[in-house]
Amino acid sequence: MSDVESDTSRSAAIDRVVEVAIGAATDAGTLLRERLTRPRDVQYKGTVDIVTDADRASETLIAGRIRETFPDHRILGEEGARGAEPEREGAAGSPYGWLIDPLDGTTNYAHGLPTFAVSIGLERTGAMEVGVVYDPMRDELFVARRGQGATCNGRPLHVSGTDALIGAILTTGFSYNLAERTGQAEIWGRFLGGVQAIRQTGSAALNLCYVAAGRIDGYWERPLRPWDVAAGALIVSEAGGRIGDFRDQPFDPYGAEVVASNGRLHEAMLAVIAGEATAAGA
Ligand code: IPD
Ligand code: CA
Ligand code: CA
Repeated sequence: MSDVESDTSRSAAIDRVVEVAIGAATDAGTLLRERLTRPRDVQYKGTVDIVTDADRASETLIAGRIRETFPDHRILGEEGARGAEPEREGAAGSPYGWLIDPLDGTTNYAHGLPTFAVSIGLERTGAMEVGVVYDPMRDELFVARRGQGATCNGRPLHVSGTDALIGAILTTGFSYNLAERTGQAEIWGRFLGGVQAIRQTGSAALNLCYVAAGRIDGYWERPLRPWDVAAGALIVSEAGGRIGDFRDQPFDPYGAEVVASNGRLHEAMLAVIAGEATAAGA
């Protein structure tokens, strides 16, 4: 097979991935929206970390669609869905891996707070190829494909032009691991005195999409899991934003932290996170 043909067939395969990811995200989102006001079964994974029957139903729908169409792909779903994983570490597997958060914003959802999303990403040998995030309450579908930009409901997305923290609206999240929260609050405190505002949506995927859309200027959080951020990270970078870890290493979908911004604020955010400055002094 020539390079041109292999590029063409890879591109056709990614077209199909986008189609399946959009179909699965919108159908799963509709399922979540329809169940929002119904009584739900809530189980505890930790002291404050919960999972509902809706998280599981959403993941079953999404993983089923992926397995049907791409039976040889790897799958990592928050609620345990797996695909064709290699049997032992180091064994050859598919270069393609799906990262699924069937309900990002579970705590909001369980309280009836209508801010949550479905997040589906596809990586190829560790580099994000496709990201799809769907917010069923606002009917907003965020899509990115590597090298082809990011859109919301078909309209191109661009990060904001805010160039000073004092004019910025930032966001972060707080961990289910209560022991992490003191350290997280220290970083939050260093930002607070020198930014326009800090918000908390309760959904890492939406935080990233809002940075991509220019609604929020910057987002940081640690610790995170791959399914929280895989899709949104590509949406940020394809919208012209910058995303990496707390030490400015390139984004790794299997890493545990992100700093995402419009680019202009990135260095200042990294300095505040590292404790080298406060936002007021940056
Ligand atoms: C959580 C949300 C939240 C973030 C947590 C995540 P979940 O995911 O994205 O915004 O602060 O770190 O675990 O549990 O709602 O899927
Ligand atoms: Ca999540
Ligand atoms: Ca989740």
